[in-house]
Amino acid sequence: MERTFLMLKPDAVQRGLVGQVIARFESKGFKLVGMKLMQVDRALAEEHYAEHRGKAFFEPTVNYIMSSPVVAMVWEGKNVVALAREMMGATNPANANPGSIRGAFGMDISRNVIHGSDSVTSADREISLYFKPNELVEYQKVGQEWLSE
Ligand code: GTP
Ligand code: MG
Repeated sequence: MERTFLMLKPDAVQRGLVGQVIARFESKGFKLVGMKLMQVDRALAEEHYAEHRGKAFFEPTVNYIMSSPVVAMVWEGKNVVALAREMMGATNPANANPGSIRGAFGMDISRNVIHGSDSVTSADREISLYFKPNELVEYQKVGQEWLSE
C-alpha cells in the first residue's frame, strides 16, 4: 500500500491546528502508521529541503522549519501521495483552493501549515529521513471494507 510523509509545520502546531488537519486525513479514510512531535535540527532541515539549496527561500525555509516543534507523520492508503497533495492545496495559500488545507488555514507562502511528499520517490526518501523502520506501526484498521472494494 502506498505511503506518504506529511509534516505539520511549526505554524500549525503554534496555531493549534494539529487536530483539525489530522482529522481531514482520518476522515478521508487514510491510515496513520507513524507520528511524532519533534524538533527539527539544522542538519535534518537542510537535508529535507536539499532540492531547494541555492534558492533565495532556502535559508528562511530551513529556519522556519526549525523554529518550533513539528508533527511528522506517515499515512498510508490508495494513491495517498497525490491525494494528500490535492488535500493540501497550492504551495502558496494565497492561491490555494479555499477547500484545501492551505486554502482554509493559511495566507502566506512562508507559513503554509503543512508539508507533503511530492512523489512516491520523495515519500520513500522523506519517510526514512524522519522515521526508523520500527517507528512505523503495522495494524489492522476497522472499516477498510467500507472504503473500497
Ligand atoms: P512542501 O510540501 O513544503 O515541500 O511544499 P511544496 O512541495 O508545495 O513546495 P516546494 O517543495 O516547491 O517548496 C518547499 C517550501 O519552500 C514551501 O512549502 C514553502 O514554504 C517554501 N517556498 C517555496 N517556494 C517559495 C517562494 O517562492 N518563496 C518563499 N518565501 N517560500 C517558498
Ligand atoms: Mg515540496
